[in-house]
Amino acid sequence: MIEIMPTAEDQAAARERGRLLFAQPCEFVAGAAQLDRLPEMGLPEIAFAGRSNVGKSSLVNALTGRKTLARTSQTPGRTQQLNFFDLAEALCLVDLPGYGYAKASKTAIASWTNLVNTYLKGRANLIRVFILIDARHGTKDVDRTVMEMLDIAAVTYQAVLTKCDKTTDVELEKRCAEVEAEFRGHVAAYPAIISTSANTKLGIEDFRATIAELAAPQ
Ligand code: GTP
Ligand code: MG
Repeated sequence: MIEIMPTAEDQAAARERGRLLFAQPCEFVAGAAQLDRLPEMGLPEIAFAGRSNVGKSSLVNALTGRKTLARTSQTPGRTQQLNFFDLAEALCLVDLPGYGYAKASKTAIASWTNLVNTYLKGRANLIRVFILIDARHGTKDVDRTVMEMLDIAAVTYQAVLTKCDKTTDVELEKRCAEVEAEFRGHVAAYPAIISTSANTKLGIEDFRATIAELAAPQ
């Protein structure tokens, strides 16, 4: 495969499209704790998935430039339903409950997992799933299970490293290479890795550009 490198002008234009998209209103539209509560499929959707406490809600807030749009917490298991946000009437952002929250009851874990998996597999307007991975810890088995499920469902997904402010540059480079190699082996994985920090805003502009490209491909 021949990879065409974008020019600096292309990158600047893509970032500008990202900035403009996220400068528009973003509103909470629905929260669903049960499958029969999912909102009707409308706008194209992008979902933020990943282990509990990896930083999904914080990243939604960093992207939209709003501190409390999605609720965050130091305690894993904060997001207990699928939260849908309408961005500029162009795209729906979906903040998912985390996988593998060990302190919840087995029944609660099973019911969240079932809810999230059923949503991920069966949503025709879901155009990409961002699988968030803690830059300090790398890919875990629970992430691999989700990746395999999405491979079978033929839903495209992409890795996003979170909390990159907690790693050294050397560690981050190593982690990026590991995650890239792992994702390359999966049919539905999109190859590029996005490195972010909701705290320092590292990578947020580029992430917005990626999302703007999904909302309106150039
Ligand atoms: P659940 O909803 O429980 O699955 O968690 P989540 O994935 O939505 O994580 P959340 O955004 O609530 O963040 C969890 C914790 O990680 C909070 O204490 C955040 O402040 C912290 N956190 C999130 N992003 C970053 C980051 O980029 N850097 C650092 N240092 N901490 C972060
Ligand atoms: Mg959350």
